[in-house]
Amino acid sequence: MAATMVRRVLCVEDKVFLVTGGAAGVGAGIVRALLRENARHVAFLDVADREGSALETELLNMFGALRAKFIKCDISDEAQLAAAYKQVLDKYRRLDGVINNAAVLSADERTVKKMVDINFTATVTSTMKALDIMGVNKGGGGGTIVNISSLLALNLGTHLPVYAATKTAVLQFSIAMGAEKAYSESKVRVITVCLGPTDTAILHRNNLGNFDKDSAGPIESRVPVRQRVESAVSGILTVLDKGKSGSTWIVKNDQEAYDYTNKLNQAFEVLAQT
Ligand SMILES: NC(=O)c1ccc[n+]([C@@H]2O[C@H](COP(=O)([O-])OP(=O)(O)OC[C@H]3O[C@@H](n4cnc5c(N)ncnc54)[C@H](O)[C@@H]3O)[C@@H](O)[C@H]2O)c1
Repeated sequence: MAATMVRRVLCVEDKVFLVTGGAAGVGAGIVRALLRENARHVAFLDVADREGSALETELLNMFGALRAKFIKCDISDEAQLAAAYKQVLDKYRRLDGVINNAAVLSADERTVKKMVDINFTATVTSTMKALDIMGVNKGGGGGTIVNISSLLALNLGTHLPVYAATKTAVLQFSIAMGAEKAYSESKVRVITVCLGPTDTAILHRNNLGNFDKDSAGPIESRVPVRQRVESAVSGILTVLDKGKSGSTWIVKNDQEAYDYTNKLNQAFEVLAQT
């Protein structure tokens, strides 16, 4: 079992973080954990107004005024995302870390574009923005970006093709953005975490509004075994602490996070032998 104790994560202490999809599920767990680890401020973006406001109140009571800020934001809307980043910078005057966590899962063909927009395009836009702000080559102070992918990015399955493809795209994009040369210029680590099935609402219901009600049942029944949110969050903290830029980590089955980079590189070498 992964431990959920508080530890000292130097890249978190006294730092300012932005977390997307932070009102519920793994994202809310990350927000709480960053504050427990003494992040100076954590801003979290989400479309879920009620959950976001409730979490903000809980966190302000627990950690004190100004430590947490909920920003209602649909990350797939570029203007909203840009405004949210601006709000964070105006308020806190710095940014040290971004966790691109928000995503939706649907098996409904009518919602595929939305899924690509949220899961992949918004992750790209947010990563670029974060690099623009934090990159030392752009006048920033360096930092860390963690992009959340899925084990489905590593398995050639046939169910959930669009969701799996968005997560594969996140993986490949993040590896490229975190490559050695990019890191040497920006001093911003870009790291990917592939999560295994985790007990959150994404497996129980859709986040795409009313379009998608029919798909919640089948998705839920396909993944009977799930790790606890706390284990996923603990793994992500380990990655924040230890992950090199460009690395890929797996967090599954309530186990400690493990670095999958070498295995993935070997797989890419095989694929490149055309
Ligand atoms: N739970 C799993 O089994 C599992 C497995 C592998 C990967 N993941 C990944 O983990 C991450 C977190 O997922 P989760 O399991 O906590 O799901 P979740 O549904 O519990 O949380 C996702 C959060 O993102 C928010 N969100 C959705 N669309 C948004 C938008 N347009 N703008 C801003 N916020 C938005 C939702 O409101 C919700 O609060 C996702 O990237 C997901 O793909 C989850």
